[in-house]
This record gives sequence, C-alpha cells and structure tokens, in this order.
Amino acid sequence: MTLVDRIRDAAARAARVPLGVWPTPFMPMTGLRRALLDEGADCPALWIKREDLTPLGAGGNKVRKLEYVLARARAQGADTLLNTGEVQSNQVVQTAAAAAHEGLACELFLGRADPPFSEDDQETGNILLCRILGARVHLLPPGGDCVAAMRARAAELEARGRKPFVIPRGSSTPEGALGSLACFFELLDQAAALGFVPNAVAVSVGSAGTAAGFLVGAQALALDGGPEVAVCGFDSFGMDYPVMAQDRVMEHAEACWRFLDLPGSCTDHLLRLSCDFVGPGYSRPYPGMIEAVRLLARTEGVVLDPNYTGKAMAGLLDMLRRGLYPPQGNVVFLHTGGLPALFAMRRHF
Ligand SMILES: Cc1ncc(COP(=O)(O)O)c(C=O)c1O
Repeated sequence: MTLVDRIRDAAARAARVPLGVWPTPFMPMTGLRRALLDEGADCPALWIKREDLTPLGAGGNKVRKLEYVLARARAQGADTLLNTGEVQSNQVVQTAAAAAHEGLACELFLGRADPPFSEDDQETGNILLCRILGARVHLLPPGGDCVAAMRARAAELEARGRKPFVIPRGSSTPEGALGSLACFFELLDQAAALGFVPNAVAVSVGSAGTAAGFLVGAQALALDGGPEVAVCGFDSFGMDYPVMAQDRVMEHAEACWRFLDLPGSCTDHLLRLSCDFVGPGYSRPYPGMIEAVRLLARTEGVVLDPNYTGKAMAGLLDMLRRGLYPPQGNVVFLHTGGLPALFAMRRHF
C-alpha cells in the first residue's frame, strides 16, 4: 500500500461528523492571469479552490477540521463546545455554526488587541455572526488570557454536571489535520481530472494545521515516487505569536505524521514559507493586502478576507510578478474563507 493510500484510508475510516458538501469548487483564475500577463509577468496557469464555499455560517475551511474534531467531542458525550480566537476569528464562527448544526451549546473566548484592529471590530463581521449563531461570547480585555478563561469556564461547567469540550486554537489537532489532508487529495483529484499536477499550492498560515496537512500529503506523494507539489505558506500571525510560522507548520506536520503512523518523519523539503506578507501585524491592514483583495475581486469576482487570504494572495502575486513559477506550470490558491472580517475593516477599503 502506498503512503497516499494509507492516508486516504485513515481519513476515510476516521470518525467524522459530516458538516460539509465535498468536493468544494475548483476554478481557473483566467481573469487574474490575464491581468498579470498584461503587466508583463510570465504567469503560469492559475487556479483557485473554494474552501470558502462550505455550507455552514459564512463558509470557510475550518469545517474540514471540525468534522473530525467534533467526532471526538461526540464520542466523549460533549454538550458544549468551547473555543478561543481573536474578535474576528473565522475558526470560532465555524465552531458556533457547527455547534448550532449539531444541537450543542457553544461558548467563545475572544481576545482583542490594544489599540483595537478597527473602530467597530467588536460589533460587526464575524463576532456579529457568532452572536446570531447563538454562541455565548466572552470578550476578554486586551491582554487577557483567553485559554485560561476558557479552561476555568470548562471546569465550572464540569462541576455543574455539564460536558464541555475544549477545541484547541484553529482546530489544529492531528485529527483536524485529516481534514486538511482530505482537502489536499481532493484538490489533486480535481487537478488530475483537468489533466495536470500543480507545481505549487498557496495557503495562508495561522495556527498552521491547514499547511501542515498539505505538507504531509505532498511529502507522502513525493515519497511514493509521485510528483513534487510545493506547499507555499504565507504567515498571517507574524511577531504576534510566540512560535515562528515554520516551526508551527513543522510541529503540526510531525504530529500528524506520527498520528498516521507513517514511516520516518515529515521534512520541510516541500515547504516554502514566507513571513514577508503579514504587514504591520496580525489583523493589521496594509496596501499590498488591499491591492490583492481588490485585484482578485475585480478580475475574478471572488472576494478574499483581509487577515489571511488577502495577505496570502499579496504574497502569491509578488511571487508571480517575480516569475518564480514556470510559465507552463500550474499554481493553485486555496481560498480558506473569512470574508465577513472585511466588514470590520470597511474604512480601509
Ligand atoms: C480564513 C482563514 N484562512 C486561513 C487560516 C489559517 O489556517 P490554519 O489556522 O490552519 O493555519 C485561518 C485561520 O484561522 C483562517 O481563518
């Protein structure tokens, strides 16, 4: 059995709560390519995988990981999901939506920056959706320890006979990575049906589970003697997070490799990580991100988010303009969702 078959088999056999409708759409970005060719760039064929178009809440790829994470919550008899993130977190909205869908209670512990990311980011965008979806929102003061608050609340609920289930940041657990792996192989199948293998797949890196799952899939494919697919990760946390992006990806990738009981270890051979497109910091806008969001919207009619995919697209555009990919090749961009956060940044657009 090849490593890829082993992974596909593990993902197919793992307990999963169905939350999505798969496969997500896979589309050419001919308008963007034309715009880059007009600029004089030697541009490869460009594709986009629409992980933003999942069916719960406002969509997004966290549902991939939540399908596996919720299976564990169900097995433990959980009645309440607890999760943490920043005020405009996409992960927490998708947790709130999944909880509503599954008839579970949901409590969210949200951090905020000082100064705030924008004038109304505690009222609109994703946080508004969390409230509409029925989650109990705990908005912590700037500098507050969300994880400690969440754990204290879990203990309190437990003492009252409830069954809380704490979801780690970004659902980036080895089980959650099975969702990213499923996405990676689904993407390769869609490309194969169109007659190509991507040279590179561009993804945004937050808690790093998505990129880690992609790296595990790409490495397994290469070790099986298949083609090399580079995983181009664009950091969105920058210096606002204590562990550097490369280490976050490798930590999760190695944990996933061990979880799947694959031989040897996962290396960073196929990982191309850039921390150059975070801008002034997590959730802080800058002109390159705004240009990337506008360019994709105006050439493809596809809207990115300001904190993750907008910055990853800024990075990808830079690489395409510098001719870093062979013009006869194929590059895929993973749209992981997050559009509602744009509304919290309306002044910048
Ligand atoms: C829209 C969006 N894209 C990408 C990411 C990054 O994914 P990961 O946390 O798996 O690195 C996130 C994480 O919150 C996100 O919300």
